[in-house]
Amino acid sequence: MQAVETIRWDERRGELVLLDQRFLPARVKFLRCRDVDDVAVAIKDMAVRGAPAIGVTAAYGMALAALRSRAKTREQLLTKLRQAAKTLGSTRPTAVNLFWALDRMMKRAENIDGSPAEIAKELLNEAHKIHREDVEMNKTIGRLGADLIPDDAKILTHCNAGALATAGYGTALGVIRYAHESGKKILVYASETRPRLQGAKLTAFELKTLKIPFYVVPDTAVAFLMSRGMIDCVVVGADRILAKTGHVINKIGTLSAAVNAQHFNIPFYVAAPTSTIDLHKTVDEVVIEERSEDEVHYVGRERITPPGTRAINYAFDITPPHLVTAVITEKGVFKPNELYKFLTG
Ligand code: MRU
Repeated sequence: MQAVETIRWDERRGELVLLDQRFLPARVKFLRCRDVDDVAVAIKDMAVRGAPAIGVTAAYGMALAALRSRAKTREQLLTKLRQAAKTLGSTRPTAVNLFWALDRMMKRAENIDGSPAEIAKELLNEAHKIHREDVEMNKTIGRLGADLIPDDAKILTHCNAGALATAGYGTALGVIRYAHESGKKILVYASETRPRLQGAKLTAFELKTLKIPFYVVPDTAVAFLMSRGMIDCVVVGADRILAKTGHVINKIGTLSAAVNAQHFNIPFYVAAPTSTIDLHKTVDEVVIEERSEDEVHYVGRERITPPGTRAINYAFDITPPHLVTAVITEKGVFKPNELYKFLTG
């Protein structure tokens, strides 16, 4: 069951409708995107967030660019689409799904030998396809991952890797949800995820809707909960997994959870579709997004640091493969160092 749709195409008006996650859980508000610039702003300002959701949204952004274009020839349209891909690609640098989706949409456009209107129609179909595939992949991830979750498990998850972060169902939360739906008794600890609080706001919102028992815990409590035997396993999502080495890039705080999990001998699982796997880049080549210092200075509207204070705000961190027990994808469950061979072999 999904309470609200994260991403929806309004067929009648030819617009993309996004659940505006900046207002959750207090208000369920929707944001209408009429052109590619609206989509770029929605991704940059995190009205929509989470690697797979960003990818699906960007795919619709490309379709909107084609549908709204006044290009008269195929070549003119392809030029417009390249510009659109550049605009969308400059929104958030870390989630690989964004670039994966842009690449797939651009290739699709280049392979159609038709009029601008025919290309636009096909691009919308392709965006719908990416949307549907994401939901399917998540359900498979959920099913495969749930096998790793024992009955009566107490699970830590970080950030939000649920239906809100994807086209539906979720990756890490998909695993938790599948385990719950298949009758296992589950208790979830959702770490708050400073500074944007995706765990406290979004994961809590989803778990409450799904009626899965949970506690929200401060990020700083994780090691202590583990030391008390209160956590049996960790399941998180990913923004990018480097296939060559198995490094996992995910929300800031993931690395701390992984280090602690190893210290306390707790399995650490990463759930992600293969669209999150980067076959090319090395650790040194990946750009870790740095966001505004104000996200750290302010809690809501209140400034908590003294004026003049500087803050550091990396949005993601990098967990080395030796801390990762397994990566759960829609194609199977792997050790991080097995991914490259499997996907290229
Ligand atoms: O900054 P966000 O909220 O986009 O970061 C989201 C995460 O880090 C998620 O864990 C990741 O994208 C996987 S979502 C299925």
